[in-house]
Amino acid sequence: TMKNVYVTRCIPQVGIDLLSQHFHVRSNQQPRKLTRQELLDGIKGVDGVLTSGTDKIDAELMDLNPGIRCFSNYAVGFDNMDVAAATQRRVLCTNTPDVLNDSTAEMAWALLMAVARRVVESDRIMRTRQWTGWEPQEFLGGDITGKTLGIIGAGRIGTSIAMKSRGFDMQILYSGRRNNSELDAKLNARFVDMDTLLQSSDFVSLSVALNAQTYHLIGARELALMKPTAYLINTARGPVVDEAALVQALKSKQIAGAGLDVYEFEPDMVEGLELLENTVLTTHIGSATYATRNAMAVKAATNLIAALKGEMPPDCLNPQVFD
Ligand code: GLV
Ligand code: GLV
Repeated sequence: TMKNVYVTRCIPQVGIDLLSQHFHVRSNQQPRKLTRQELLDGIKGVDGVLTSGTDKIDAELMDLNPGIRCFSNYAVGFDNMDVAAATQRRVLCTNTPDVLNDSTAEMAWALLMAVARRVVESDRIMRTRQWTGWEPQEFLGGDITGKTLGIIGAGRIGTSIAMKSRGFDMQILYSGRRNNSELDAKLNARFVDMDTLLQSSDFVSLSVALNAQTYHLIGARELALMKPTAYLINTARGPVVDEAALVQALKSKQIAGAGLDVYEFEPDMVEGLELLENTVLTTHIGSATYATRNAMAVKAATNLIAALKGEMPPDCLNPQVFD
């Protein structure tokens, strides 16, 4: 008999088609995240779940559904899942690394360039017919070429962001848990402590996973270390930044600006952020290209299929389950 799976979000059809070759598939058809109760109702009696970062996968949910053998996250980040609790219960967890490295890095660059060159602010003036004509000292911004880019968290995505700086002749600094030989070799990058990075960079870009160690990694103290001409770019997770402290730093011009794709309390943002001209604000679209979202759907489905066949999924977050 075929196993049953539940898909919590409207993922691209290619993922549903793949799953349907192996399982009875039920899914959330509405273009919104499920409430807790809807999620619990949806996953009742299934063998596996294709989840997303907007679903909280915790011990309670696992204990209510002991038949579920795998949670396949449609995301590279997995801060929404209690992987330790899953491991204890011998439940597999997977994610979708690598396929979104380039698109997320491109988004970081889109934010970097947009905030430095005031693209959105200027667009707003044009489309509201407020532009009065060319001015020598209007909409001046920061330079990019030859400047210093600091990467906090030089993993897969951070490395991709750094590599894309090559056309801009930038000096690359990075901090994190370990030294990155690819960045050292290809970009002559420097591995420095985070405070040095914050003090020396013209652009600070965040690419760390969200966990207990990185929650509010960037707060008032860290923002105060940045240059008044520097920009903060966040394509990682909102809670890595103390958003209220960021609003203060932007308001007081302690830093020059911020390009944000993620927020501490999504889909909300801290009051006042929307009023600041020195920000570019996007809606958690780092991986949102047609090709990448399709590739994530294939990857998440492939992981779930392997797991429910009793095989090691390609992107297993807790291979200890097989010990
Ligand atoms: C998106 O935020 C992801 O983690 O893939
Ligand atoms: C600006 O438009 C210039 O020609 O320098």
